[in-house]
Amino acid sequence: MRNIAMLAVWSIFVMFSGCRGCTEQHDPTGDWKKFKEESKQANQGVPSLEKDGSIPVAVDKSQESSGSSGIDGKYSTFCASCHGEKGDGKGPAGMALKPVPRNFVTWNDPSITDEYIAKIIKDGGPAVGKSALMAPWGGVLSAEELQQMVEKVKSFRK
Ligand code: HEC
Repeated sequence: MRNIAMLAVWSIFVMFSGCRGCTEQHDPTGDWKKFKEESKQANQGVPSLEKDGSIPVAVDKSQESSGSSGIDGKYSTFCASCHGEKGDGKGPAGMALKPVPRNFVTWNDPSITDEYIAKIIKDGGPAVGKSALMAPWGGVLSAEELQQMVEKVKSFRK
């Protein structure tokens, strides 16, 4: 009987001391806070879809300027994720899409008019009977930038 009582006391002691040790060693709150801090930083500027399901427009102020260097920046910001920095349709986000984004390098049919290119950029894929994955960009490009973007798209041609 005495032994059993001793054993009970002993095992309670082991449980407590063991447990205290383990929470001290593996206390996750510090790590968790750090993780939350880091993920907050990492996710800054990563947009989620707008309420209506459209693609939000990240306006990078550093690239807000007019002229051709401005349009290069806008292409990188708005288009390259799908159409690729080189216009080859192999942007990191584009490769997962169906249909895949247009490869501008080989898109060189004489039947493609500037008006057509401007329309799909401004009004999006469905406006010309194409996929809605190609969003309308008219809201973020001025009329002048739209024309520059048409030239930019054509400039990838080989
Ligand atoms: C979310 C990915 C995505 C982004 C960002 C994007 N596009 Fe597209 N784009 C597509 C897809 C997908 C297609 C192909 C649609 C189809 O074939 O139905 C396409 C097609 C096109 C076409 C060709 C239409 C045709 O007849 O084949 C042009 C031109 C174009 N995009 C220009 C742009 C420009 C300029 C931008 C930036 C302002 C841009 N896209 C941003 C996905 C994207």
